[in-house]
Amino acid sequence: MEIGRKNWVPEVVRTCRRRTALECPARIRGLTHTIVGAVISFVFGLDGYDTRDKTTASKPPESLSKKILNRDRATDRRTLAFSLGGDLRVSRLGYGNRQLTGPGIWGEPLDRGEAMRVLRRAIQLGVEFIDTADAYGPDVAEALTAEALHPYPTNLVIGTKAGMVRTGPGEWHPLGRPEYLRQQCELSLRRLRLERIDLYQLHRIDPLVAVEDQLGVLSDLQQEGKIRHIGLSEVSIEEIEAARRLITVASVQNRYNAVDRVADPVIDYCEREDIAFIPWFPLAKGELSDPEGVLATVALRLGATPAQVALAWLLARSPVIVPIPGTASIRHLEENLGARALALAPEDLSQLEGLGRSPS
Ligand SMILES: NC(=O)c1ccc[n+]([C@@H]2O[C@H](COP(=O)([O-])OP(=O)(O)OC[C@H]3O[C@@H](n4cnc5c(N)ncnc54)[C@H](OP(=O)(O)O)[C@@H]3O)[C@@H](O)[C@H]2O)c1
Repeated sequence: MEIGRKNWVPEVVRTCRRRTALECPARIRGLTHTIVGAVISFVFGLDGYDTRDKTTASKPPESLSKKILNRDRATDRRTLAFSLGGDLRVSRLGYGNRQLTGPGIWGEPLDRGEAMRVLRRAIQLGVEFIDTADAYGPDVAEALTAEALHPYPTNLVIGTKAGMVRTGPGEWHPLGRPEYLRQQCELSLRRLRLERIDLYQLHRIDPLVAVEDQLGVLSDLQQEGKIRHIGLSEVSIEEIEAARRLITVASVQNRYNAVDRVADPVIDYCEREDIAFIPWFPLAKGELSDPEGVLATVALRLGATPAQVALAWLLARSPVIVPIPGTASIRHLEENLGARALALAPEDLSQLEGLGRSPS
């Protein structure tokens, strides 16, 4: 992320806060935040710079559309790139390849040639982040990715996952035993023809295995150079914080889209902490692309399609969001990537505001 004068100062404060949050008791932390913020506000004359710790200060609720508008005004632009783990800069609209497998996310694609063409077209159109998993197929989506794209472009980041066992079409079971996660990592490296996986995500925390063991083996794999960054999937803020006491969390992948906003607090947390938030089901499994659906009027006003509105809204929602819409169709892929050029106006944002189900 490029950092201008208005942006790098808060970034310094955030870094100080993160460090003190790890190292100091709460009372010293509060005092440090206030002093650091006040000194920087005084020296640099930032208007209205808020020295309170935003994780604890009570403030009046702000509507989501206002939050987006205020942030865009402050940064003066919608940034369309994000640095995963701080060092892997990717264009923020990625591609999820789970739809390339057979029915029930099981077996080979119905049209293998089209699946390969979709993957190659995604790269031609500037996709720099592909999300996949050992469980998609299983094995099929990773193998297709390598077959279509290896040797990979240098700017491509592949995120894969482990921690789900498949027993048949539509059947998914968490399995986080360390020896299984290690085996799956070795197999993903082989299938993807990689020496190191850029982003390795724990598909689910297995409730039957100690979380320290699940994250411990990922940390070992990272130290051995087999994975670069670690991500989590379907986790609460409490789970992310517990994980961060053991590892560095580069990304969180939870279900989220314009009508399903249960993960709102997790996104706000990720934004504060500079963690990528990768929303799965960004199109609500295709429901949001319905030409007569809830996004139809906004789409009509903008001369766009409902799927593009759904994705543009996610890009506007937070600069840490990296959507990964899934499709097995080149036409849909091209349409979806068109969302990068779509800017939502204040009236669009306020119209979309009311669609979501936020946590009560
Ligand atoms: N971490 C997790 O637990 C988890 C769970 C689920 C998914 N994921 C990830 O999230 C990614 C996205 O999820 P998803 O693919 O299941 O759901 P999605 O992106 O919300 O929706 C995909 C569905 O929408 C349709 N579609 C896509 N673009 C369209 C368009 N422009 N017009 C009309 N229909 C369109 C697709 O059909 P067509 O193929 O016909 O285009 C497909 O049926 C997955 O690929 C995977 O990487 C992660």
